[in-house]
Amino acid sequence: MTQLEQVKKAVAFINKKTKNFKPEIALIAGSGLGNSIPRLDKKIVLPYEKIPHFLRSTVPGHSGNLVFGLYKGRKIVVMQGRFHYYEGHPMKDLAISIRTLFMLGVKKLIVSGAVGSLDEKLTPGSICVLNDHINFMANNPLINNYDPSFGPRFFDLSKVYTKSLRQITLAACKKVKIKAKEGTYFAVTGPNFETPAEIRAFKTLGATVVGMSVVPEVLVAAQCGLEVLGLACVTNLACGIAKEALSHAQTISETKKIEGKFKSLLETILPKL
Ligand code: HPA
Repeated sequence: MTQLEQVKKAVAFINKKTKNFKPEIALIAGSGLGNSIPRLDKKIVLPYEKIPHFLRSTVPGHSGNLVFGLYKGRKIVVMQGRFHYYEGHPMKDLAISIRTLFMLGVKKLIVSGAVGSLDEKLTPGSICVLNDHINFMANNPLINNYDPSFGPRFFDLSKVYTKSLRQITLAACKKVKIKAKEGTYFAVTGPNFETPAEIRAFKTLGATVVGMSVVPEVLVAAQCGLEVLGLACVTNLACGIAKEALSHAQTISETKKIEGKFKSLLETILPKL
């Protein structure tokens, strides 16, 4: 079965369950951020395992649900829990969920994720609003995965992180008192955290923050013409800059600390996007 056929099956199932809800904004809630979702009206929850051809998340801190609902009249869908390359999913399968969102009618995608910061001023609890990325995963979900229904094979990435969405977000961060700065996401496969030498190298290459997700999703979204907002939640200073050893437990506990403010941020920006 082609990926287009898989996506069409997922879309048909979802449209039936949601009575053709047609969300306009999608939000991918990263590690530990599943509880930062604003309260949605007329909520419909579809577990990933019920949706044909959807993948399943396997990481603690990532529940797996597609949540539909209204926030102040805006039609939202949330991916509560995401899929990572390091879980063993084939890279091209990471395109399925994003292409499904596109075919459901989504126009704007907010991608959040936990990151380590290479900028000492972006301390845990702050947000790096992404203005660019470096794909260091040595792979791409669009390889051997072309279908004109999902956009052109070759496409431009010079404006992939939409400027107006970044501006709205930076202003909202001030309002809800979150330290925030624009920067470049450096994508690695994980699952290990980096070495101090890698972090020094990545800094030379232009990284602001480093993480193990975001970029595959953004590439798929950009191909099908979605506007993208990337919100990197800093859970730690990167290896060698941080004084302590890094752990997933720390990632989760730091995101728990940000949860409340991150929720306020989303509540502030969603009606404005
Ligand atoms: N490196 C990579 N991914 C991460 C980190 C990190 O330091 N922190 C949270 N996700």
